[in-house]
Amino acid sequence: MNTATGDTRYRKVLHNSQRVTWDIDADVIRFRQLDTDCKFLPDSLSLVAQLPFLNQEQQRLFSQVQGRTYAYLFGLIERCINAKVLELGRTHSLGDQTAVAALLKFVQEELKHQELFRRIEKLADRALPPGYRMTTDPDSAAGAMLRKSTWAVLALTCFVEIFTQAHYLHSIRDEDELSPLFKDVFYYHWVEEKQHATLDELEWQRVHDAMQPAAIDAAVNDLIELVHMLDQILQAQASADGDYFCSSTNACLDQDRCNAVKACLLKAYRLQYLVSGAQIERFQHALSSKVTPQQKQRIKAAFAPLIACVASVPG
Ligand SMILES: [Fe+2]
Ligand SMILES: [Fe+2]
Repeated sequence: MNTATGDTRYRKVLHNSQRVTWDIDADVIRFRQLDTDCKFLPDSLSLVAQLPFLNQEQQRLFSQVQGRTYAYLFGLIERCINAKVLELGRTHSLGDQTAVAALLKFVQEELKHQELFRRIEKLADRALPPGYRMTTDPDSAAGAMLRKSTWAVLALTCFVEIFTQAHYLHSIRDEDELSPLFKDVFYYHWVEEKQHATLDELEWQRVHDAMQPAAIDAAVNDLIELVHMLDQILQAQASADGDYFCSSTNACLDQDRCNAVKACLLKAYRLQYLVSGAQIERFQHALSSKVTPQQKQRIKAAFAPLIACVASVPG
């Protein structure tokens, strides 16, 4: 269905997104600063328990560094997502006007989210020790990712927008020891991401239905390359964050412990951005309905070393 009156699924998403819309200053930040007496990310995502030699203050800093990176990397990935959604909106422009409106609302929200994450980065810069480094430029990363097929970019988008909801619901929402401002950032992010994930599923299916089997097979390779690209971004940031953490005045660790910190950061980032999402049934269902068992096996094999890294016991 692609008429001027609109598909009811896009209409429902648009209605929901209009109902929950929020403002960065009035609803989220509300003149607050990031409180360094609190953790930013929960232990279940930061894996801090795997570094038993850290004292309480160091554990808090470890979580704050990861929280800062979590906001930075979401902003980075959303640069790519938004460019693709803008392009998809144009493909509806002479048809379903409700779909155009829903996708434009999606784009506006992602622009707002990126602005929110930049504001959080400024607050983190004020609150945390100097020397933090962002290793990947969002425009360069998005440019490289957007050279892959739309099917693959939509698969990755759907993956990210489903796991961010799972992180909020299962790991952030009920954690009392987290920074109230940081929790609010991911609460407000979640309420809008719920609609995004539904639009991702609709658009991914629409693009998929128009493709030939050979193009889908090539797109599976693209998805695997996107996973590798994301992992390279995580490796670079884990290394920089390890240096930053270990050189901060609050840490002062010897080389062996610094190496353990870096290994734990990479493991945590792989858990957050790749492994946790791969295990969510909603994403598995959307993927399985589009690929052959052999193609699914190739994707599974790409994830296998990442899952093994996350499951490994610290040495
Ligand atoms: Fe977002
Ligand atoms: Fe989103």
